[in-house]
Amino acid sequence: MNKQNRDAEYTMGRSESETERLIKQSQLYDDITRRFFLRSGITEGMKVLDVGSGAGDVALTLAEFVGAEGTVIGVDVNLDILETAKARAAEAQFNNIEFIAGDTRTLELPNDFDAIVGRLVLMYMGEPADALKHLVKHLRPGGIVAFQEVEFSPYTAAIHPDTPLMNNLIAWGRTVFQQSGAHVEMGMDLYKTFIAAGLPEPTLHFEAPMGGPEDWHGYGYLENSFRSILPLLEAYEITTADELDVDTLASRIREEVAAVKRPVMLPPHITAHVTLPT
Ligand SMILES: C[S@@+](CC[C@H](N)C(=O)[O-])C[C@H]1O[C@@H](n2cnc3c(N)ncnc32)[C@H](O)[C@@H]1O
Repeated sequence: MNKQNRDAEYTMGRSESETERLIKQSQLYDDITRRFFLRSGITEGMKVLDVGSGAGDVALTLAEFVGAEGTVIGVDVNLDILETAKARAAEAQFNNIEFIAGDTRTLELPNDFDAIVGRLVLMYMGEPADALKHLVKHLRPGGIVAFQEVEFSPYTAAIHPDTPLMNNLIAWGRTVFQQSGAHVEMGMDLYKTFIAAGLPEPTLHFEAPMGGPEDWHGYGYLENSFRSILPLLEAYEITTADELDVDTLASRIREEVAAVKRPVMLPPHITAHVTLPT
């Protein structure tokens, strides 16, 4: 079995600061997810499965879309992070979300979901097409399949602002995900994953948050992301803590991009959705 057939080691690690980073990440990518749910047809009254809920951001957004008459079931293998998700749902006073700990590929789940949704989760599964094929069995006829995944292809369009530190970070980031066994082109691979899972051709979109140069919370997000992957960056000998100097990273990126007056592009996300025949 090669590395791509196995589940990835969770590249970002499991810590409180990683949970915090996921929440910040969601703030940057939330617009993309909301537009995605709108065009996928997720609407009031639906019963939706959120695959790999993490700190609960996708489930919280879904709860707004389906309203009080709808239901969201969020599943994650990480029991600890679900405690954060549950607390956030309670704080937001959503009574229509239930979180269940387990692996979505093996967990006993209902078979009458109106939609199955996931963000940044197929990329960590060894066999994403098999996982999707299995998940779709939980969907009612005419149901919706909607997944949003990152794309780390190194084509030039994604290399912005093309400055020395950012170019290093882009290369290091891609390498660490690749070495941990994550699918670094899961976004572009969504098309073939849907087809291999026996689904119709999905509708696809490509979007990326951008910002900078002077004042943008994306700098802090990049710093936190590299804080989360630092243990693996060192373990795989990609770079060292000294070279990364993570505590000054946000300000060094800001200085660099402010000097060239070019925006930073965060890793793009690709969305794929399809409605099954009734
Ligand atoms: C990058 S996080 C994304 C969290 C959330 N979807 C978001 O976008 O904010 C990926 C999550 O998927 C979970 N996960 C990975 N494989 C899973 C599986 N087979 N079943 C359930 N959860 C899984 C991980 O534990 C992690 O919390």
